[in-house]
Amino acid sequence: MERITDPKVLRQAAIDRHQHRFYYSGRLVVPCVPSLLEEYVEQFHQVFISLGKKFAPPEIENLKNILSNSLQEGYAASTHANLVLEYQPESASGALVYKVSTVIGSVAGQYQGWIQEREPPLFRPFPDAKAIDMAAKLGDPAQVRILEIGPGMGRNTLALGRIGYQIDALEVTEEFVQHIQQEATQEGLNINARQGDFLDPLVRFPLQTYDMVFASEVISHLHNQDQLRLMMVKVADYLRPGGIFLFNTLLPVEDYVPDETVRQLSVVHCCSLFTKPEILTSLEALPLWYIMEESQLEYEKARQPPEASLPENLGWFGLWSQGGGLFSLPPGQNPPIELSWIICQRT
Ligand SMILES: C[S@@+](CC[C@H](N)C(=O)[O-])C[C@H]1O[C@@H](n2cnc3c(N)ncnc32)[C@H](O)[C@@H]1O
Repeated sequence: MERITDPKVLRQAAIDRHQHRFYYSGRLVVPCVPSLLEEYVEQFHQVFISLGKKFAPPEIENLKNILSNSLQEGYAASTHANLVLEYQPESASGALVYKVSTVIGSVAGQYQGWIQEREPPLFRPFPDAKAIDMAAKLGDPAQVRILEIGPGMGRNTLALGRIGYQIDALEVTEEFVQHIQQEATQEGLNINARQGDFLDPLVRFPLQTYDMVFASEVISHLHNQDQLRLMMVKVADYLRPGGIFLFNTLLPVEDYVPDETVRQLSVVHCCSLFTKPEILTSLEALPLWYIMEESQLEYEKARQPPEASLPENLGWFGLWSQGGGLFSLPPGQNPPIELSWIICQRT
């Protein structure tokens, strides 16, 4: 048997032997997007390879099955679900072992995070001109009843309340409700803000009561077409005949139909996409008619004070309203979606 004495070879051999004492552990966290299974498996495997733990084909297959189940489970449970993979070496063999779990979040949880991390106002400081203009067509403010779904910090609810409208506001994030109610009480406004999820079947409002139901940047939180339908059914219940539903949504241009991957990504990025035919389907057999759509940015630019368009006032909204929350395209190339005002009317 040959005895090796070459210091260079032996140095490397000692380092190789030493490998099993290396301890790697970590956490990989990704949003639950079932359509990205192949990409996630590849990315995770690349991390393992960088740690010197290349998987054999059956191990990759096993990882894929585990991830597939968790991604589907998480995505079905919430628009805010993360998959967490925690890995570490097994103490005896040094082989990489991992454990996969899902963490289910919520819309309210997302905004509670914003409250802690960001400076107010979390949304733009100016009310939507479209909301003010549409409300003005409804008659004497003291007689007009408005329901706002998802008012956030209340930039529209409070502005409408100051004009004198009677507002009910339903907001899923408790801290926002408290903020609105405090402001409304201080200013003596006719606003009743309450906490709840509009999609909850047990959350009800009086039937055929409201002249306008209004939702700004809320459709983008819906999970799927069933939720859109549920929202339309409830809105139709609460509007008085002739009343209007004013909402905005990131509307795809006519010749663009998002594929499943883009749809799932739109949901987890709070940019949920519904095409015009899908919106029309959600209204089927309801006494709620699609009246018109128009670009929100163009409408608001023309009617809001010029300072509303300054970058410091637009914040993330400028990019988001043009689809930048979902697509990263090179400068000069625009996504095929745009935030649009849509008006429906109750017959
Ligand atoms: C992007 S923010 C917009 C806030 C406000 N409408 C504005 O334009 O400034 C969306 C808001 O809708 C609320 N929201 C989302 N889904 C909701 C639901 N199903 N029921 C009630 N509120 C909801 C969120 O908590 C958040 O305050």
